[in-house]
Amino acid sequence: MTDQNDSKKAGDQTNGLLDGSAVSVAAGVAVAKAEAKAAEEAAAKAAKIEAAKVTKTAPTPIHCNGSAETHPLTWRLSKYDEVLDIDVYELLEGYAGLKKALAMTSADVQGVVKDAVLRGRGGAGFPAGIKWSLIPMNKEGAPDVGPKYLVCNADEMEPGTFKDRLLMEKLPHQLIEGMILVSHAIGAQTGYIFLRGEYILAAKNLNDAIDQAKAKGYLGENILGSGHNFELHVHTGAGRYICGEETALINSLEGRRANPRTKPPFPQISGAWGKPTIVNNVETLCNVPPIMVRGAAWFKGLSDGRSGDAGTKIYGASGKVKFPGLWELPIGTTGREILALAGGMQDGLELKCWLPGGASTDFLMPEHLDLAMDFDTIGKAGSRMGTGLIMVVDQKQNIVSAVRNLEEFFARESCGWCTPCRDGLPWAVKLLKGLEAGEGKAEDIDVLLQLTRFLGPGKTFCAHAPGAMEPLQSALKFFRPEFEAGVRATPVSATNHISVIQA
Ligand SMILES: Cc1cc2nc3c(=O)[nH]c(=O)nc-3n(C[C@H](O)[C@H](O)[C@H](O)COP(=O)(O)O)c2cc1C
Ligand code: SF4
Repeated sequence: MTDQNDSKKAGDQTNGLLDGSAVSVAAGVAVAKAEAKAAEEAAAKAAKIEAAKVTKTAPTPIHCNGSAETHPLTWRLSKYDEVLDIDVYELLEGYAGLKKALAMTSADVQGVVKDAVLRGRGGAGFPAGIKWSLIPMNKEGAPDVGPKYLVCNADEMEPGTFKDRLLMEKLPHQLIEGMILVSHAIGAQTGYIFLRGEYILAAKNLNDAIDQAKAKGYLGENILGSGHNFELHVHTGAGRYICGEETALINSLEGRRANPRTKPPFPQISGAWGKPTIVNNVETLCNVPPIMVRGAAWFKGLSDGRSGDAGTKIYGASGKVKFPGLWELPIGTTGREILALAGGMQDGLELKCWLPGGASTDFLMPEHLDLAMDFDTIGKAGSRMGTGLIMVVDQKQNIVSAVRNLEEFFARESCGWCTPCRDGLPWAVKLLKGLEAGEGKAEDIDVLLQLTRFLGPGKTFCAHAPGAMEPLQSALKFFRPEFEAGVRATPVSATNHISVIQA
């Protein structure tokens, strides 16, 4: 409207000139106006981006000095405290991966991610592309396979793990873009972010980002004219560790008690409301947009020859290190390098042992620090990479107390569905408390060892109990004398006998 008025005014001012010249002058003025408007808009956007840049001087637990080429998950945070505004995200390559994917077939998108060998970052390391390929797809001429769901596992309650929180609080659009992209790859029309209830800021930032994405046509019906529809919801949990197990999560999402389901059938075939469902971790999903932008070969190269696994990993360190935090590094970076980034142990403390990826992994010793932190290498060393966030134990800490603390958590978080886990975990805690107080019996150590077998893989409905046994079994392997030191010097029966005689 303004441009038309401007053209008219320009035409009035050129009365008396030849018609053709009048039109060209008017058009010139309109172009100049349009250019001025575009420049004004660009300046406003630049100001917005400038305003979003890092301003804070207080120490931050997030460390990233990378570029988009080397740090696909956190490069934006090297310049910005957070990227919450969709305009800023778009200017920083945001939604470019989605646009590329929407121009491709679902099968081709799955193919790219399969070639990239993106392994799930939720702990088990299952390849995402292979998981998606198990989902039934609509085929021309065949009956519609019906509704399918995409669920993001954002429950993150593993003690010592806080990587997904960073991604959701500071880069909500990257997760949302990843989910829209995956929904296209698997043909899902509805998605849920199952979010740990305590992550209040993440819930706010994700909901705001979803509203912005809807307003720009990235969510809803006929996304960017592609014909693909996708609705996305944030569902906050009530704060139970077991809700992170994918089938318990699905039960909880449906409004049922969060007990794991038997597998098979796997969620890819029968998940939420009995329909095909993909459950992926936050970090896994955030890796998908950059893979679409830069390709499978680039993603594989990110590990920089350190590992057979592809990509980067958000590693972290907590416990008595100087600077606990998170770092996006090539997958296969060693534990020693991660601890060096954390400034090493606090002054006067020496490393005794470490958990490589959350409370449900086996302890490793200082001599394991030079191993590549990837799924297979840490597996061969007798533990699991898990979430990749290291927890350190120092020489002054009693291992029995440290393990008792972890087992109390696991006992409290058992869903109670199977007997070995429901009864075995409190029993382990009772024995550990006795040993911690110096009141244990000699046979308690054998009973603890037996429990690690009775609660081991294949004995329970889900991996909660076997995970809980990992720190216990490795502590018994490496530090048995500390458990033995908790055995009461004079057996209780002998004490009773003496008191009877005295009486
Ligand atoms: C007790 C228990 C808790 C779990 N908690 C989480 C969690 O908080 N976040 C997560 O992504 N995966 C968690 N998992 C693993 C999930 O069951 C599932 O393997 C994962 O979400 C798959 O995503 P990914 O393939 O992208 O790694 C948990 C598993 C168990 C047994
Ligand atoms: S192992 Fe524990 S958490 Fe898992 S189903 Fe059995 S009782 Fe529930």
